[in-house]
Amino acid sequence: MPKIVRFSVSLEDDLLEQFDGYCRAGQFATRSEAIRQLLRERLTVQAWEADCRDAAGTLTLVYDHHRPQLREHLTRLQHDNTDLVISTMHAHLTHDLCLEVIVLRGPASRLKKIASQLRGLKGILKGELVMASAEERG
Ligand code: NI
Repeated sequence: MPKIVRFSVSLEDDLLEQFDGYCRAGQFATRSEAIRQLLRERLTVQAWEADCRDAAGTLTLVYDHHRPQLREHLTRLQHDNTDLVISTMHAHLTHDLCLEVIVLRGPASRLKKIASQLRGLKGILKGELVMASAEERG
């Protein structure tokens, strides 16, 4: 059985308030229990992302299509990575806004990289990558 170690954490009062709300909503017995679970989840995801060779994912982007060059950059990045990009769905949300969902498959590290590149383009208002293992035993 591992030894229990105590440590103190400093954080802003409003963040602590939000965290306590999270603990209540999740019905955690103590803050420590909630923190343990969050840490385990995050560390598991991080370890998985580091070495998953065959991952699949979606990258959802919301952007203003009037932004100069943005469409061109989005298209170029996807054409530069045709081995990763399986499909793209585009929806015109409003007069200005577009939603694009890009389906990706490949090594997790490369999916994260192209997602960062796409998300980082000027004019992207929201970008979220969701990944899953595409291996038999993920
Ligand atoms: Ni559009």
